[in-house]
Amino acid sequence: MINNEIKIEILSNDQDSLKQIAKLHKQLFDRDHFTTTFREGLLLNYFNALLKKSQFNYKAIVEEEIVGYLIAGKNLDKVLSDFSRQNFLKVFYYLVNNPKFIKEKILELLRKILLNSQKSSAEMRLFIIAAKHSKDLKGVGKKLIQQLERDLLQNNITCYGLSVRKHNFKAIEFYQQQGFVEEFRTIKSIYFIKNL
Ligand SMILES: CC(C)(COP(=O)(O)OP(=O)(O)OC[C@H]1O[C@@H](n2cnc3c(N)ncnc32)[C@H](O)[C@@H]1OP(=O)(O)O)[C@@H](O)C(=O)NCCC(=O)NCCS
Repeated sequence: MINNEIKIEILSNDQDSLKQIAKLHKQLFDRDHFTTTFREGLLLNYFNALLKKSQFNYKAIVEEEIVGYLIAGKNLDKVLSDFSRQNFLKVFYYLVNNPKFIKEKILELLRKILLNSQKSSAEMRLFIIAAKHSKDLKGVGKKLIQQLERDLLQNNITCYGLSVRKHNFKAIEFYQQQGFVEEFRTIKSIYFIKNL
């Protein structure tokens, strides 16, 4: 796929876009991400909540089809905790049916309580990125990042960060290739930061 054929547009929370990114999310993230266990309805609500509160949202389009998305903003962890509270019974249901996540959630909670000091210095977070990648389609992730960085700079934001699961080697290599440097590690994740 020629890079120019990948168009980057603003991702809004209309039903069609929400459905396409929910589908992509399930396809592209492996099953160790709790949200991939959600049924479509709950995943649509999840993305809707995120998109309402995030400042920089993009979709990558090839021939009318969404092939990637990126969501970035400040305080998006709070959106997630509010979402879990508001949808407590449903989230609880998925947790009970996928018990391997219970340990992970408890560890996350303990880390927040006990290791309060371990916080990234970058307020702006690349919260989520996913891109289709195949022999004929490459460069979607890079284009999404480039668009985000252009817009961050236009808004005088010169530093942003993200976290990635330690075993997600593909994404880690991708971020390093995009110029991110490691900030710190937790049991589960590596925190990266980039100065623009
Ligand atoms: C991580 C992800 C967003 C990267 O997007 P992508 O479109 O595949 O990446 P690009 O094609 O733009 O690659 C840009 C560069 O990153 C590096 N890269 C990408 N995939 C790589 C891989 N599998 N191994 C090593 N390097 C890789 C390459 O250097 C590449 O440049 P090149 O093609 O010129 O060599 C995508 O693979 C993805 O959606 N993964 C699943 C979801 C996910 O894990 N998201 C991140 C969660 S934190």
